[in-house]
Amino acid sequence: MRKPFVAGNWKMYTDSSDAESLVNGLKPLVSDVKGLDIAVCPPFVYLQQVVNLTKNSNIRVGAQNCYVESRGAFTGEVAPEMLKDVGCDYVIIGHSERRHILGETDDLICRKVVKALSAGLEVILCVGELLEERETGKTDSVVETQLSNGLKEVAAGDMSRVTLAYEPVWAIGTGRTATPDQAQDVHAFIRRWLGTRYSPDITDKVRIQYGGSVKPENAKDLMDCPDIDGALVGGASLKSDSFAAIIKAAVH
Ligand code: 13P
Repeated sequence: MRKPFVAGNWKMYTDSSDAESLVNGLKPLVSDVKGLDIAVCPPFVYLQQVVNLTKNSNIRVGAQNCYVESRGAFTGEVAPEMLKDVGCDYVIIGHSERRHILGETDDLICRKVVKALSAGLEVILCVGELLEERETGKTDSVVETQLSNGLKEVAAGDMSRVTLAYEPVWAIGTGRTATPDQAQDVHAFIRRWLGTRYSPDITDKVRIQYGGSVKPENAKDLMDCPDIDGALVGGASLKSDSFAAIIKAAVH
């Protein structure tokens, strides 16, 4: 049985006072929720603040990105070791906004995954197709390419620290979520792919989150699907009550 995992991706939305009220609002709402993992992923500059605010709670902290080197002349970049140093447990890698707005390639994404794992972080690796790719029947092949390239150098032994997030790009921030059937189909495809790339054991254990317009109203139907093990939540993670409702919907 996989433990559900719900993470909030705050993207570039919060400032310091938002971070404080969000975390202080969320903590009491989820303090007695058991049997799942919870994380929030603030912008880099608020990570330390949020790590401090979440101490002694069941909320863990992740970053939204990292670089592929530990140290050096890489102006503007942040090393995974630095994320670990400030108390992060997770890092999101390969989000569609980084792929499509910042131009990140599968090759760079793979290097980030490997580096983050070697620094001791857990990785949330995002994959997902564009609307025109779905409409032309390319969803599975796009997702397969992103997975096989993104995990190319990732050994089986490290897969216990990798969560996959299926985020169809057309469902992100649009209010147009995938139906539970559409999401489940791709999640099942991803799980079968894990079996051919790795092993039956890894197939059973790797968690696959769904992301894309997850709201309290649709969260339960999505997360009740057999291969959906939680959610990566954008907009609805910016309000403590809606994020808490999604977290509670993930408890089996
Ligand atoms: P929304 O929940 O706002 O659609 O964003 C999803 C997402 O991109 C999470 O990483």
